[in-house]
Amino acid sequence: MTRPTELDSAVAEIIFLGPNAQITLGELAKRTRASVQEIGESIQRLSMLGYPLNPKSDSIERLPIHTINTQELEASLSSWRIGRRIEWKLHVHSTQEEMKKLCQEAPDGTVLLAETQDFGRGRLGRRWFSPLGGIWMSLLLKPSWPKSHQILPLALGAALTKAIRATTGISTSLKWPNDVTIQSRKVAGILSEATYEGDKLGSVIVGVGVNANVGSTTLPKGLDRIATSLSHELRRDVDRNVLTLRTLEEMDKTYRIFEAGQGTELLNDVRQVCSTIGRKVEVTTTGGHFEGEAQQIGGNGQLIVRLRNGETAQFYAGDTVHLR
Ligand code: BTN
Repeated sequence: MTRPTELDSAVAEIIFLGPNAQITLGELAKRTRASVQEIGESIQRLSMLGYPLNPKSDSIERLPIHTINTQELEASLSSWRIGRRIEWKLHVHSTQEEMKKLCQEAPDGTVLLAETQDFGRGRLGRRWFSPLGGIWMSLLLKPSWPKSHQILPLALGAALTKAIRATTGISTSLKWPNDVTIQSRKVAGILSEATYEGDKLGSVIVGVGVNANVGSTTLPKGLDRIATSLSHELRRDVDRNVLTLRTLEEMDKTYRIFEAGQGTELLNDVRQVCSTIGRKVEVTTTGGHFEGEAQQIGGNGQLIVRLRNGETAQFYAGDTVHLR
């Protein structure tokens, strides 16, 4: 075993996908070729990710978990391309990284879901906390539409906003570029990573993270002020199968429109759910912080801001804070 992810993944699979509800630490050590101490450390890490484990003197007992049911998903999904192949894993480092391994051979529209990640990645190099109960997935897109993909992640953010709204009834909105928020607190986000051949778009790996059934007390300190979860807002768990299905179907519609070259339609969708337009904002980019009023989203997905000095700036990437 080279890094904790592989050991944790093997331990979690033996415990949660195996036939027995209880297993000794010695047996786990033997089957993973790790020491009993390493097994103890692994169990601690898995507990921090929300796996319900009941330690006994020399063994470990599992409590039931509800995983995403990919068979049900495949059977119910009615889509054009997204979800034509669906992969599921219990525990990974990051689904983005797993998808990169499949990228060459996997078809356009492949989806890879994991129950937990120990190194979920967010935008701008941030970490994305990914315990049990969320929806953590990556979509592989291989668009044939040769134009810039700028509008695509933004429009997929709009699709996610709509899917969450339709499934839960919660009033969600999209904060530019692609944070789904509930009353200013972030509930979901999108990380889009593209490859180019010259200026032609190659493949795009779209990472989607939704804090679905994540207890607000599980969120790391400090994050609970700026982030929320659907179960916290609703005071009950959401059906992750239903929400995943709806999200894939909404994203599939968006992808189809993108491939048909109808960017204006996508732009209208984004403008409809985007709460940034008309707000006083602070935009943070690699070039610094800028304050002004967000006026519109341009045809390439850029945020058009009238700065405090009266000049107009166009931001193609960055992060926004709504000031009021
Ligand atoms: C953001 O910063 O808002 C984007 C968060 C994206 C998180 C998801 S979870 C599934 C996929 N795998 C990752 O490592 N990140 C994305």
